[in-house]
Amino acid sequence: MPANRNAPSQNAAATTSAVPAHVAIIMDGNGRWAKQRGLPRLEGHRRGSRTVRAITTAAFELGVRYLTLYAFSAENWKRPQDEVGGLMRLLEFFLKQELKTLHKNKIRLRTIGRTDALPAPVRKQLAATIAATADHARGTLVLALNYGSRDEIADAANAYAAAVAAGREPAGGCTWETFARHLYTADIPDPDLVIRTSGETRVSNFLLMQSAYAEFIFTPVLWPDFTKEDFAAALETYARRERRFGLTSEQIKGKLEVRN
Ligand code: IPE
Ligand code: IPE
Ligand code: MG
Repeated sequence: MPANRNAPSQNAAATTSAVPAHVAIIMDGNGRWAKQRGLPRLEGHRRGSRTVRAITTAAFELGVRYLTLYAFSAENWKRPQDEVGGLMRLLEFFLKQELKTLHKNKIRLRTIGRTDALPAPVRKQLAATIAATADHARGTLVLALNYGSRDEIADAANAYAAAVAAGREPAGGCTWETFARHLYTADIPDPDLVIRTSGETRVSNFLLMQSAYAEFIFTPVLWPDFTKEDFAAALETYARRERRFGLTSEQIKGKLEVRN
């Protein structure tokens, strides 16, 4: 069987390392953080964007190669119009501010999600930031924007069908490996660790297929309060876990042969 290009850790014993190559975060709890303080929800989002900066810097310093942040879901459009508008303006402002830091730290920006539906000023700022950081190789910051796993699967199915019609994929030969080439994450390794803040223990349509073998950490800390120490603690918890990928613990420890 060909190796699954989207699961770099499939041969777990050989490739699992103490530091996760890819951490994905469901940044939740901005609204509750604001509510607890009698502040408008948007103030929570503003404080949350500060956390984004701190955690991005910390993650790459700690050796993480890919950091994916769930910033706006496909379902978040259903929130009150002023909150959606405020989030979009905040995103535009954040991108403008972040460019210098991304350059300094040699971090490349990418997005996943239906970004075509974002407001024009945000799209423009995104395109500029992605182009300006395209050659950076120290790490990749992936923003999930207007992202939903179910949309992603539907988009990938359409793209796969179009590729079959054009003769670029074999008809009737769909495997996970060939299908995954059409996901938004085609050239991004699967997340090793998914963190969700705010105490909710659900995935909310985030990287459903890609996190098939991810480790999950749920923390009660609200996103604006999440610190680089909390992030480092999550990495320590991750390092203590044994990822088995369907094998036995003995196989993982190398005491038993792994059948192919
Ligand atoms: C997460 O915080 C940010 C986005 C979804 C954009 P929330 O706004 O969902 O915060 P809570 O869940 O209401 O506390
Ligand atoms: C998930 O949080 C989306 C983001 C963090 C951007 P939500 O707050 O939208 O998720 P639910 O609605 O509580 O499941
Ligand atoms: Mg929420």
